[in-house]
Amino acid sequence: MKELLNQLRSEFIERLNAIEDTEDLEELRVKYLGKKGLMTEALKGMGKLSKEERPVIGKLANEISDEMKEALVERKEKFQEALLRERLKREIIDISLEKEDIDLGHDHPLIKTMDELEDLFVSMGFKIIAGPEIESVENNFDLLNSPEDHPSRDMSDTFYIDEKTLLRTHTSPVQIRTMKEYGAPIKMVSAGRTFRFDDVDDTHSPMFHQMEGLVVGENISMADLIGTLEIFIKEFLGADMKTRYRPHYFPFTEPSVEVDVTCHSCHGKGCPACGGTGWSMELLGAGMVHPKVLENCGIDSEKYTGFAFGFGVDRITMVKYGIPNIRLLFENDNRFLEQF
Ligand code: PHE
Repeated sequence: MKELLNQLRSEFIERLNAIEDTEDLEELRVKYLGKKGLMTEALKGMGKLSKEERPVIGKLANEISDEMKEALVERKEKFQEALLRERLKREIIDISLEKEDIDLGHDHPLIKTMDELEDLFVSMGFKIIAGPEIESVENNFDLLNSPEDHPSRDMSDTFYIDEKTLLRTHTSPVQIRTMKEYGAPIKMVSAGRTFRFDDVDDTHSPMFHQMEGLVVGENISMADLIGTLEIFIKEFLGADMKTRYRPHYFPFTEPSVEVDVTCHSCHGKGCPACGGTGWSMELLGAGMVHPKVLENCGIDSEKYTGFAFGFGVDRITMVKYGIPNIRLLFENDNRFLEQF
C-alpha cells in the first residue's frame, strides 16, 4: 500500500512537470485527487490493513494529497504569472514611435465673431441666452406682432415643418422666450443659426447666423439703443467707424431703424465693395420694442420700455475681414479658415 501511494506521488509529480497549460492541470487534479480519482481508488484497500497500519497509511495518504494540491496551486500560479508577463509584453505602447501629425483644424471665423461679440456684450452687463433653431410659428411671428399677411410668413420664404412649427427665420423669437421666462428687467444677447428659403449666391445662404440683443427696463430710450450700438460697432469694427440710422419698419419695434456703417474696405471713400457709396448698408435692424410685444409676453408696457437689435453674424464677419463670398464661410476649407 505504501509503495502504491509513493508510486502515485512520483507519477503525479512527473506528469505535473510535463504539463503546459491550466486546463491540463485541472484534468490531472481530477485524475488523482477527484472523488473517483486514483488516490481514492488506492485507499479502498485500507480495509484490508491491520489496525496498526491504518493510521500510518492514512497519515501518509493525507500528506501525499496535501503535497499534490500544493504542487498544483504552485504550478497554476506560475502559469498565470507567465501569462500576465506575456500580455504586458504584447500590450506595451512604444511611445518612441513616430506618428503622423493630426490636423486639428482651426477655429471658424463665425465662431470667433460670436465669441468676441458675446465677450463684448457680457462686459457691458448682458446675459447670453440660447434659443432653439426649431421654433413655433407663434414665437417666430405671432407674438412678435407680425401680421398674418407678412411676406416673410410665406411658404416660399420660410422652412415650415408643419403648420405650427418652422426653422426660425431670425433670432427675434429668443426675445419672446426671454421675456416670457424672466420678465423685466432684461439685458440679453443671443446668437445662433437662422433659416430662410434663399438660393445660394455670393451674399445669401439658406442657413445663416444672427445675433439678437434685447434690453427691457424702466426709462430705456432710443438713446440707450444708439449708445449701445455705437460701442459695439466701434469695438468690433474699429474706432473710426461712422454710423447712419435710417427709419425702417419692423412689426416688433416702433420706431424702427436700419443701421449702415462706414465701408470697412475703403473707410468711406467709395469702392466696389460698397458700390461707391462709402457705406456698408443694412448691417443691422433695431428699434424700440413694440408695446404690444411687451404685453404679449406679460410685461407692463406702461412701466417698462425696451430696445432690440438684430444683425447677420455672417454679414458682419464678411464686412470686418473683407470676405467677398459667403460660400467661403460654409465650405470649411482649412486654407481659408487658417487665415483667421
Ligand atoms: N429680426 C430682424 C431681421 O431679421 C432684425 C431685428 C431684430 C430688427 C431686432 C429689430 C429688432 O431682419
